Parts: sequence; structure tokens; C-alpha cells
Amino acid sequence: MPSPVTTISEIGKYEGQSVTIRGWLYNLRESGKLLFPQFRDGTGVIQGVIAKNAVPAEIFDSVKALTQESSVIVDGKVRADKRAPGGYELDVSNVQVIQRVSENDSYPISLKEHGVDFLMEHRHLWVRTPRQAAILRVRAEIIKAARDFLDERGFVLTDPPILTPAACEGTTTLFPVDYFDEQAFLTQSGQLYIEATAMALGKVYSFGPTFRAEKSKTRRHLTEFWMVEPEVAFATLDDLMELAETFISFLVKRCLEKRRADLQIIGRDVSKLEKVQAPFPRISYDEAVKMLQEAHTKGALETNFEWGGDLGSPDETYISSQFDKPVMVHRYPAKVKAFYMEPDPQRAELALCVDVLAPEGYGEIIGGSQRTASYDLLVQRIHEHGLPEEAFKWYLDLRKYGSVPHSGFGMGIERVVAWICGLEHVRETIPFPRMLYRLYP
Ligand code: 4AD
Ligand code: MG
Repeated sequence: MPSPVTTISEIGKYEGQSVTIRGWLYNLRESGKLLFPQFRDGTGVIQGVIAKNAVPAEIFDSVKALTQESSVIVDGKVRADKRAPGGYELDVSNVQVIQRVSENDSYPISLKEHGVDFLMEHRHLWVRTPRQAAILRVRAEIIKAARDFLDERGFVLTDPPILTPAACEGTTTLFPVDYFDEQAFLTQSGQLYIEATAMALGKVYSFGPTFRAEKSKTRRHLTEFWMVEPEVAFATLDDLMELAETFISFLVKRCLEKRRADLQIIGRDVSKLEKVQAPFPRISYDEAVKMLQEAHTKGALETNFEWGGDLGSPDETYISSQFDKPVMVHRYPAKVKAFYMEPDPQRAELALCVDVLAPEGYGEIIGGSQRTASYDLLVQRIHEHGLPEEAFKWYLDLRKYGSVPHSGFGMGIERVVAWICGLEHVRETIPFPRMLYRLYP
């Protein structure tokens, strides 16, 4: 009878039994008459053991000659071993080689260190390494958790278009596209469109790729990234902040529940994540400015921040490093923010907006606001921002036909993956990152 086919992550269910796994050779050690091939199958890595006198000579010899990343089907008996990383080892009885990688053109990514440029050039292979695979599993979990959170709370997924006639987040980061005889752009955010669907369905969200022609080379910017955007009719800025803190707490909790083993492979200090529970601290932009100016006086920040400017990366890093939870900075000067934000009725120079900054210096992970409800003010803002009123005619309609206060935010998935996994750079958070100077593979 053939043994059951299983995966490395499920192998514990078969302790003491013979199983078949299908995957690739990750590494091979030899010690006297023993071979220790390590196999990976996408769900994990397991060490096999083969003794020369326990298997036919041709099987022993073919395993001995195996090269890194050769594809194989392996039969063996599952044995519990406390010292093994996954808790189990495989006493191998047979290995069927599907494709042996040639020595003449051997696998380019060896188990020693490689430079980042080399790895990025081989991203299609780099994703096979256990750490990269673990990051991609955490990413998938965060995406699933975000959908679950919103679906369970009555939000309806409404997909906005990717090809759009106008800017949402400023005209300097638009990717132009030839659209027959017209000029189109890749979307910077689904927001304007989900404001329309929110007026139709109440609570909605979009979840899709968004594009910014970012000319800057930072560890937080991609030119193509995935954003989840909830939008809620009748919600105020306070409602929005409450939604943001519950949402983020839910995502972190889910990763701790379901992806602890992956976080361990990645080397994440999970005690830092365990502190991430709502409510989060809330500070106004004014208070943030005070913190930055005090930091400058103490010598902790080089430049002295002046009221009125947008927070730069070093400013965000400093503020977020002062808290062990994400911090919500609200009410920025309207001048540094997008055209669609509702002014603060107490102080018209401020926008009813919030940026959520992740702890440990990870910077902005969420940007959101209450939206301008007044038709006249919106027209004025569209002009002030040099935007073509014609292209926003439909958006202005939303303020003509039953305009209500409403709010929403956008959360960049890659920034959140970088933070939850504790990564230096967003380039490892997406299977194939798109950045300035990076369009291959
Ligand atoms: O703050 P942003 O620009 O806000 C908007 O686009 C709003 N229209 C969203 C809304 O209210 N519905 O972007 C939102 C988030 C940022 O907080 C950040 O997490 C991420 O998107 N983000 C980027 N992530 C990677 N690379 C980039 N170039 C990013 N730009 C923004
Ligand atoms: Mg922002």
C-alpha cells in the first residue's frame, strides 16, 4: 500500500508512520555512512536521515549526488525528535528524483550570505528560502485577517478601477497610461470611488494594488503596493480612530495566534507585538510638533521642526519610537494634506485627519480622514490644488445628492508586513517588489 502524501507542516499527525512528501532538496550533510538531506516543500523544512546499510545502494548514491534545489518525492517514516526545528525527522526509505539540478549550472543562491542586489536580481528564486517564505505566509495572513475583520463587521467589498482619469493623492506621483486617445493614470488610491459606493452601501472597503511614481529611494516606499481602504458613511474622525485601533489590534493578534512559528523563523521579538492592543495613544499634530522641538533641544533630533510642515521620515521615526503601541497623530495642517479632507470646525487651518505611526520606528502605516461634505468647499479645494474640475464632476455629485459626513482610511499592506515581521525594508514584504530602478524580475 502506498504511504499517504502529506506536507511537512502536517507531518506531526503521522508520527511513527510512513509518509510521502514532495519538494526540493534544501541542504545535504554527510557524516560517515549517514546522509542528512534537508527537504523543503513550501510548508516547512525537515531533516531526513539515510543510513548506508538501510537502503539499496542506488538510492543511497542518488541522494548522495543530489544538488541543491533538485526536485524530489521522498518516502520515509516520521520520528519525533526534540532537537529538530519542527520537532520531527524523517527516516528516509526512498527518494525519487524528479529533476536533478546540474553542477554545471548550479542553484545561484547558496546557503551563505549574498548581497541584497544579487538577491533582488534573483527574487524569483530568493522567495524559496525559508525566511522569505515565512514572510510571504505572514503577508497572506495579514491580508486574510483584514478581509475577515471587515467582512465580519458588515463592510461590503467594492472594487474601484485601476485605470483612472485623475489624481487622488497629488499630481507628482502619477503613472501615466495611454488610454486610446485619452490620458489615464494608474490609481493612487481607491478612495474617491469607494466614497461613492459608501453612499450606496453604507460601509464599504476596497483592497487592491495602488501605484505611486515615487522618485525617492527609501526603505518604506514602493511604486506598486497593496492598500486596504475602509470607507464609512456618517463616521466622524473619532469613529475612524476607533476603527483603526481595533483593526490593527486584530491583525496583530491574528498573526500571533496563527503565524508564531513563522515570526520565529523571521527572528521577530514577539513580546513587542503582544503589547499592541487597543486603545492606542492619540496625540494632536500640535503635540507632535512640541515633542519634536523638545527632542531637538535635547539633541535627539538634528533639525528643529517648524509648525506647519509635514512630518518627514525621521520625525515619524522619532515620535513612534516614544510609544510601545502604534500612535495616532491627528489634525495636521490642511495645507500639507490632500484636497478632500474636512476642516476642523474649531480651527479651519487644521484637517480632520489621522496618521497611524507604527512603533519601533516603522513610521506611517495608515493615513485617513473625515471627508469634505460641502460642495462649495470641495470645489474651492479642487481649484487650490490645481486639479481639473471636469474630472471630478462625478465626485462633486456625491456632495449634491444627500451629502453626509463620512470617513475612511488607507492602510498599506507592505508597511504593516514590514512592521509585524520586523524587517529593515519593504522590498521583502511583497513577492515581486516594484521600486525606482527595479522592474525585473
Ligand atoms: O496616506 P496615503 O497616501 O492615503 C491615501 O492614499 C488615502 N487616499 C487613503 C484613504 O483615506 N482611503 O496612503 C495610505 C497608506 C500609507 O499610510 C502607507 O501605509 C501606504 O498607504 N503607502 C505606501 N506604502 C508603500 N509605498 C508607498 N509609496 C506608499 N504610499 C503610501
Ligand atoms: Mg499619508
